[in-house]
Amino acid sequence: MFSAVAKVFALLLVVLGAFVWVGNAITDLTGGEKIVTAFGEVDISPEGGEEIFWGKGRCYTCHSLGDRGSAVRCPNLGVFGEKFPLAIGARAEERARERTEKTGEDFTTTDYLVESLAKPDAYLVDGYKNEMAVVYAPPISLNADEIKAVIAYLQSQDGEFDMETLENPSEISAAYFRRIEAATAAGGGDPGEGQIVYEDNCSYCHILNGEGEEVGPDLTGVGLKGLAFLEEAILNPAKTITDGYETRVVVENDGRQTIGLLMRDDPDEIDIVKDTGDIVTIARADIKEITIDKTVSVMPSDIPEALTVKDFQDLLSYLMLQKQAPTEEGS
Ligand code: HEC
Ligand code: HEC
Repeated sequence: MFSAVAKVFALLLVVLGAFVWVGNAITDLTGGEKIVTAFGEVDISPEGGEEIFWGKGRCYTCHSLGDRGSAVRCPNLGVFGEKFPLAIGARAEERARERTEKTGEDFTTTDYLVESLAKPDAYLVDGYKNEMAVVYAPPISLNADEIKAVIAYLQSQDGEFDMETLENPSEISAAYFRRIEAATAAGGGDPGEGQIVYEDNCSYCHILNGEGEEVGPDLTGVGLKGLAFLEEAILNPAKTITDGYETRVVVENDGRQTIGLLMRDDPDEIDIVKDTGDIVTIARADIKEITIDKTVSVMPSDIPEALTVKDFQDLLSYLMLQKQAPTEEGS
């Protein structure tokens, strides 16, 4: 009888020991910090955010917090001198209140902080230029959870840490988080820069939300097709030619060749739009044959060569944001 109890007790000790060992091993794996979980996820709390503010987020390279830190060129986020009587948590509350009064729309402290990070040019602190880093784009590349943690840290600077508004964001904050998530999903691009890349390289052939030229398919809502689709469509347009956009090769009686999309098909003449965007009108009487070439797309395959890696990531994050399905009249 006694020995049976002793055996159970010994077994318990072994099990307990194993737990302690596993626990230590996990702590070691994560650099001995409790703030980062075993899966590399950040803890959405003021402590988790503090870690990022003074580390990966590189906020400290531009901002000090009260007496902590040595950066002077950007707004101090703590209480500092006459210029900064309130720390950022309390300051954000005040700015949010001002905004609500001005616009009549409910704008929360969290909205203000999310906006400062997601779209820094939306509100410029008096006396400062639009030089705030896009912290969700390279080289900083914070993801949405890391940004939530930083916001928790900022909230806690003389304001209130409010997990509820981070977990269930308002429509304003949610839209910003979608922007950050799209950027992260596309390798950390900056959608704002991506729009410029798009306008320079794509809009003369595609319509997007009602704007641009109608050579290729309408790209409204194209983000719904996903990142893999977009990458392939841009890097290798000929591989998956969109139905109805097959490349025509028109050979005329005199041997001249015109390659492009058939844009107009009338009994007496046709219009072909070339990959330069130029439209060529050809009389039916002059045409010897029209064939379809499935190996080439009218969409140029050398566009990516003209883009830097950053341009390409920015472009993808911009396209990933296009998730509004086309409306009836818009397409
Ligand atoms: C390259 C320098 C730079 C980096 C890096 C940077 N910021 Fe900023 N930040 C600025 C500048 C400049 C402003 C003022 C202009 C503006 O309002 O956008 C600013 C404004 C802000 C504001 C608004 C302050 C106010 O008084 O309303 C917040 C909040 C903020 N930054 C947080 C952060 C956080 C958090 C990080 C790190 C994740 C960070 N910043 C990284 C330069 C930077
Ligand atoms: C010279 C005109 C032209 C330019 C410039 C051009 N495209 Fe295209 N694009 C087309 C044509 C034509 C198609 C349809 C044929 C095909 O699928 O390859 C197409 C297809 C696509 C598709 C597939 C759409 C779908 O729903 O199937 C995507 C995505 C796309 N283009 C994105 C872009 C982006 C992004 C750029 C700028 C980097 C760009 N295109 C520049 C002509 C162009």
